[in-house]
Amino acid sequence: MKALLSVRPGGPQTLELAEIPEPQPSAGELRVRVLACGINYPDVLIIEDKYQFKPPRPFAPGSEITGVVEAIGEGVSGWQVGDRLFALMRDGGGLAEQAVVPSDSAFRLLPGFDAVEGAALLFTYGTTIHALTDRGRLKPGNTLLVLGAAGGVGLAAVEIGKAMGARVVAAVSHARKAAAARKAGADEVMIYGKGPFDAAAARELAASFKAAVGPDGAHVIYDPVGGDYSEAALRAIAWEGNYLVVGFPAGIPRLPLNLALLKAANICGVFWGGFFARNPERHRRHVSQLLDWWAQGRIYPKIDQIYSLADGGMAIARLAERSVIGKVVVCP
Ligand SMILES: NC(=O)c1ccc[n+]([C@@H]2O[C@H](COP(=O)([O-])OP(=O)(O)OC[C@H]3O[C@@H](n4cnc5c(N)ncnc54)[C@H](OP(=O)(O)O)[C@@H]3O)[C@@H](O)[C@H]2O)c1
Repeated sequence: MKALLSVRPGGPQTLELAEIPEPQPSAGELRVRVLACGINYPDVLIIEDKYQFKPPRPFAPGSEITGVVEAIGEGVSGWQVGDRLFALMRDGGGLAEQAVVPSDSAFRLLPGFDAVEGAALLFTYGTTIHALTDRGRLKPGNTLLVLGAAGGVGLAAVEIGKAMGARVVAAVSHARKAAAARKAGADEVMIYGKGPFDAAAARELAASFKAAVGPDGAHVIYDPVGGDYSEAALRAIAWEGNYLVVGFPAGIPRLPLNLALLKAANICGVFWGGFFARNPERHRRHVSQLLDWWAQGRIYPKIDQIYSLADGGMAIARLAERSVIGKVVVCP
C-alpha cells in the first residue's frame, strides 16, 4: 500500500510517497481502508519534531481519518468488516491507503454522513467542546471571543459557542476569513493585523479586542493562535473570565500575570488528548453531542480543499502558510 512518509525532520517538502507492507491489526485494533484524512496544525509540528508526541521514523502524519473496516484484531467486539468509522491515531498513520486504529478510539460513521466531512470533525470539534464546556464553563448569554476564528478549531469554536447560546465575537486576520466566521454564525467579527506587533500596535490591538467584545469584556476567550495576540486579548477579558490556552501557531506567548489578578481571571490550559485519555466516558458523551449537533445542522465541518495522497504535503503546507479556511482533507 502507499503511504506519505516523514523520513527526516523537516517541512512538508521532506515527505516521501512510498510503497510499504499492508499493516496488520494487533489485539484491540482495526485495520481500515482510509477514505479521508483530516489535516490539523499538529501535522505541521509533528513532521518537524516540534510536537509533544514524536513517533519513530519513518511514519505517516495524519491523526484523524474516516475509513472502512477491512480486518479485525483479537478481542475486538462490536465491529464488522465493511463498517464505516471515524477515528483518531495518536502517532499518526492517516496519510496512507490503509491504517490501523485502536478500536476504542473509533466511532461509527452512520449512513448519510459524508466521509470527507467526517474526517474533519473529531479533532477540531472534539477539542473545542471539551475546551468550552469542561475548561471554559461557557454559559448561555456569555460573550465568547474566538481568535483565529476561521481556522480548524476556530470555526468549531464559533459554531459550538452559538450552539451553547453564547454571543460570539470572532477575530481573524483577513476579510475572507471574516466572511467565513460570519457565515458560521459569529455575532461580531473583527479583523486584526499580522504580527509581530511593536508596543503601539499591541496597544491598538488590545483596544480593538475591547471595542469588539464590549464594556463588560469577554467571559471566555478561546485562543488557538498565541504570539502577540494573547496578551492583547487577555486585556479584554471580563471579571472572573476564563482564558483558554489552546495553541500557538503565532508563537508561545509570555503573559504578565498582573492581568489575571486585576480581573480575577482564570488562565486555563486545554490539552484534549490528556483529557480524553483520562475521561473516556465523558469524551464519548462529547462525541455523541457533536453527532447530534451535526445531524441537526448546528455544526458543519467546512472543507477548504481536498488533496490526493501524493499532494498531502501541500495540504500541510497550506496550514503552515495561514491560508486555510476551515479544513483541508486528503483522500488517498
Ligand atoms: N490544546 C489542544 O488540545 C489542541 C487540540 C487541537 C489543536 N490545538 C492547536 O490549536 C492550534 C490551531 O490548530 P488548527 O488545526 O485549528 O490550525 P489552523 O486551522 O491552521 O488554524 C490556526 C489559525 O491560527 C492563526 N495564525 C496566526 N498566526 C499563524 C501562523 N504563523 N501560522 C498559521 N496560523 C496562524 C490563523 O488564523 P488568522 O490568520 O485568522 O489569525 C489560523 O487560521 C494549533 O496550535 C494546534 O496545535 C490544540
